[in-house]
Amino acid sequence: MREVMTKSMARNIFYGGSLFFIVIFVGLAIHSHIYIVETSTNKATLTASVERGKRIWEEKACVNCHTILGEGAYYAPELGNVMTRWGVVDDPEAAFDVMKSWMDAQPTGVEGRRQMPQFHLTDEEVRNLTDFLLWTNTIRTQEWPPNDAG
Ligand code: HEC
Repeated sequence: MREVMTKSMARNIFYGGSLFFIVIFVGLAIHSHIYIVETSTNKATLTASVERGKRIWEEKACVNCHTILGEGAYYAPELGNVMTRWGVVDDPEAAFDVMKSWMDAQPTGVEGRRQMPQFHLTDEEVRNLTDFLLWTNTIRTQEWPPNDAG
């Protein structure tokens, strides 16, 4: 066996290795895409109201303080599972009621607690946000977060 590596051997290892890992990367990317679209997303319940709720979520930049499924700022509670925490996943009307009172009560001004701003949302917007958070709660996240607190 040869003691030194020739230029062409080094080149083959470089191109071969790169190609090998690019193929693995593309394969995993396709797998993630299919998993998200087919397995973890509940398309049947993805209504127009859920979509509007997501838009409001983005326009009001809730993510600047909150996380949703772990993404966002760690200033305020995780909201991907807030409906589970409130015990209202099976009752959209109760979910709306709790959400409405929560949004109306902000900022609470309670000493020692972090404050959430008042967004002056209409009932319709609060309902959209409720539907968005109820829907997000149904995303299959492989048991994440590990506890209700998020
Ligand atoms: C400036 C930061 C900030 C922004 C922006 C913000 N929040 Fe909050 N939010 C908080 C804080 C802080 C709390 C916890 C307050 C407390 O526990 O007294 C909270 C709590 C909540 C809760 C209750 C969570 C629980 O576990 O009970 C909900 C629901 C919520 N926010 C929804 C929203 C929505 C929807 C938006 C966007 C329209 C939003 N927040 C934007 C700071 C923020």
